[in-house]
Amino acid sequence: MTKSHTAEQVAQKLFQPVDLGKLQLATRIVMAPMTRAFSPNGVPGSDVAAYYRRRAENGVGLIVTEGTLINHPAATDNVNVPNFHGEAALNGWKKVVEEVHAAGGKIIPQIWHVGMTRKPGTGPHPEAPSIGPSGLNLEGVKEAEPMSIEEIEQVVKAYAQAAADAKRLGFDGVEIHGAHGYLIDQFLWERTNKRTDRYGGSLLARAQFAIEVVEAVREAVGPDFPIVLRLSQWKSAQYDAKLARTPEELEQLLAPLVQAGVDIFHCSTRRFWEPEFEGSDLNFAGWTKKLTGKPVITVGSIGLNTDFMSLFKEGKGAETTDIDGLLERLDRGEFDLVAVGRALLADPAWAAKIRDNRLDELIPFKPEALQTLV
Ligand SMILES: Cc1cc2nc3c(=O)[nH]c(=O)nc-3n(C[C@H](O)[C@H](O)[C@H](O)COP(=O)(O)O)c2cc1C
Repeated sequence: MTKSHTAEQVAQKLFQPVDLGKLQLATRIVMAPMTRAFSPNGVPGSDVAAYYRRRAENGVGLIVTEGTLINHPAATDNVNVPNFHGEAALNGWKKVVEEVHAAGGKIIPQIWHVGMTRKPGTGPHPEAPSIGPSGLNLEGVKEAEPMSIEEIEQVVKAYAQAAADAKRLGFDGVEIHGAHGYLIDQFLWERTNKRTDRYGGSLLARAQFAIEVVEAVREAVGPDFPIVLRLSQWKSAQYDAKLARTPEELEQLLAPLVQAGVDIFHCSTRRFWEPEFEGSDLNFAGWTKKLTGKPVITVGSIGLNTDFMSLFKEGKGAETTDIDGLLERLDRGEFDLVAVGRALLADPAWAAKIRDNRLDELIPFKPEALQTLV
């Protein structure tokens, strides 16, 4: 951090309570959803609860859990990713909520189905076929049959059931994972959705599955429970992919999702400072806020000098950086909340250190951090 922002200014912008209508938070810092695969047989234990509690104790206003699986046999390729169904897993999540609330934090689960990114024959139910809108993987190669209408209806119900359970367990909202090339995004993306029925074709038709998921979730949780939708233009298989090439297209995509019941958009980018469209500085979150009027969360390389895909593609860590650029954008009202991933994975006290201007104590992100739940 340069001298242009004092600790007080930082505290003012990031660490004051914020009221988003249905959701009140103690700070604007969000823990980004990060898969950790520390839940044997899909059940999160006390170590997972303590991991999230540490972030809540240290200045994080809202925790979005790691991706947690809706009730479908092909939802994952990993037996250690937590479920969001079944008594044992839901009891585990209840304890997570209690720990986070006891520390004064708020928490929402990210509900997830990986779709065709699951390699056939993997995960807790290897016999189940992988599913996706057209049976295509992210390279556009056919690996399975397209989902039937019955399968689509069943999966929509599974998202709704997970959301209902989130409410019953005392979570503060729910986040639907619609980003990064997973199931919902496979419907949104033209490379993976070649359907010719009402779920495929135009951008609006490709959004139909997402719309039905949001509608079913809204129906299941009632009007007051916050629904967050995470979206990304980019895919792990193609960084420059765009669902919407212009602001007009983005509006076409977002308007029916707002209508369906989304309260907050979580706009996933790899670097928060990159403009989304030519001719304006606004990032993806900034455009989404401008076009919908809804609160938005920005994310991507906050406080770090490399983007997170360099971890997965090259096994790279990252050095800590200042957050001046972020504060300037926050000051301009470009976004409401800021989600932090790797910096918070490596350092449970990242937010508190930023708040208290203890910048020399920040812990850089190293790939080894993935091995333990610090
Ligand atoms: C280990 C790891 C696991 C992740 N798992 C998820 C996930 O389950 N769901 C999701 O939406 N994003 C996931 N992400 C992406 C993060 O939420 C975040 O968008 C990304 O790390 C960029 O933020 P950062 O630059 O602050 O790390 C993951 C990232 C990392 C590093």
